[in-house]
Amino acid sequence: MNEIDRRHFVKFLAGGVVTISSCGSSLSSKSLPFKPLSFSRADELILAEGLTYSILIKQGDQINRRGDIFGHNNDYTAFIPVSKNEAFFWVNHEYPLPQFIHGRDLKAEEKTKEMIDKEREVVGGSILRIKRDNENSPWQVDKTSTFNKRLTGKTKIPFVANRAIAGKKNAVGTFGNCAGGVTPWGTVLTCEENYHDYYGEINFGSEKRIPSRLGWERHYKNSPHHYGWVVEVDLKTGASKKLTGIGRYAHECATCIRTKDGRVAVYSGDDKAGEFLYKFISKNKNNLHEGELFVADIKKGKWLSLDINKSKILKDTFKDQLDVLIHCRKAGRLLGATHLDRPEDIEIHPETGDVFVTLTNNKKRGNFHGSILRLKENNRDYLSRDFKAEDFLVGGDDFSCPDNLAFDRKGNLWMVSDISGSAMGKGPYKKFKNNGLFYIPMSGANSGRVFQVASAPIDAELTGLSFSADYKTLFMSVQHPGEKSKGPKDLTSHWPDGGNSIPLSSVVQISGKVLESLQA
Ligand code: FEO
Ligand code: CA
Ligand code: CA
Repeated sequence: MNEIDRRHFVKFLAGGVVTISSCGSSLSSKSLPFKPLSFSRADELILAEGLTYSILIKQGDQINRRGDIFGHNNDYTAFIPVSKNEAFFWVNHEYPLPQFIHGRDLKAEEKTKEMIDKEREVVGGSILRIKRDNENSPWQVDKTSTFNKRLTGKTKIPFVANRAIAGKKNAVGTFGNCAGGVTPWGTVLTCEENYHDYYGEINFGSEKRIPSRLGWERHYKNSPHHYGWVVEVDLKTGASKKLTGIGRYAHECATCIRTKDGRVAVYSGDDKAGEFLYKFISKNKNNLHEGELFVADIKKGKWLSLDINKSKILKDTFKDQLDVLIHCRKAGRLLGATHLDRPEDIEIHPETGDVFVTLTNNKKRGNFHGSILRLKENNRDYLSRDFKAEDFLVGGDDFSCPDNLAFDRKGNLWMVSDISGSAMGKGPYKKFKNNGLFYIPMSGANSGRVFQVASAPIDAELTGLSFSADYKTLFMSVQHPGEKSKGPKDLTSHWPDGGNSIPLSSVVQISGKVLESLQA
């Protein structure tokens, strides 16, 4: 597809105005406090001059005195301050890397129950306490803290509102934990994304289980319908629950904001090509146990209710509301929701209240580079059923495959890219080289321009952006370096330890005068 067609095509999708991103790095970098990077294929985490990083924690590290281990593929992070120099820190562990557990990747039928058990240990999330000596010192994990705990693929987790799913009121485990959110009361939401990889899937109207990639269902009989939910975690106690009201699909994130009447709106996208964007509005002000779920008609700018009592077609199709919530994808299709190009992270601008949604790509449709969609709720009211949508930025020039976002203290945007390991450096992705971290000013002369701040090691994705409360530290996950390695003896990356070492996903903390000047 040529350039004009590509832009027209994305415009058509979003049904709005196209803002074309321009070649930021060459034009207006003089007014920036750093020199933007160019794309790189180095097996390093490279930062713009004036920024440094250190590793907070990495895969395989012990996190507490009980000997619990930091899991695989750290993804979403959340920083919840406790005092000036202490915080809770949550980290998702998205999926296992079987080639590093078993020595090579194995087919589902080759794995023993003991092997599956090892995979179940490395997913879920970590609750950590972190501290620093003073505001100029780096953060460290307090490994003596009794708050430090793991959630894994074995943790017993109840469904809220006392709902029984496939005859059970509890699920065994959480996995596929991709991005998340923080509630107004300081708990963390961790989102089960590619849930079908573990126990497969049972589609609406079918009794038949579609087998999974990892083959856990060969040894454990858990229902696929127990996964694909948003899980709320209380970091103080480690208690967790699956929030059935927000629906079941490949949740990327769950971004919370108070509504004007004090309830909570939660935005979440289904990260699968052609799937939908959702909004949940809680019934209560202090929990997300019940509420109304909506799916987006982007073309008409309407939130469509998934309440079975408000729709004849839902009533005629599903047994009850829980049946709708388990099969959101089917319900969204029946209501005519807009198919999207893999909705990923969602962040709300702290001043304008606009809702930004990354659409990472949809290769089947020829959309290789993705875009960022901007939603404006009517009157900035998160209870609204009407909104306007437009493209904020379109990939293909300065970046490709936008994924996670974070707004900083000044309301400027930080974005990471996720070109998949198998596509990186090839075909339409060649010029973008490794994944990166980008800074996008939201006002002034450079408004809407894209400047690269960091370049990831080989095969890695940068993800899980979160700022400390004083904005002096930017936490970031370096996820799956060397993911295309066949095993510990055939490696594509040696990050972070170099030499012949095996690659290890790690959470890094970035600081330095450039970050301070951007937040001052
Ligand atoms: Fe796990 Fe959609 O990224
Ligand atoms: Ca992601
Ligand atoms: Ca985010």
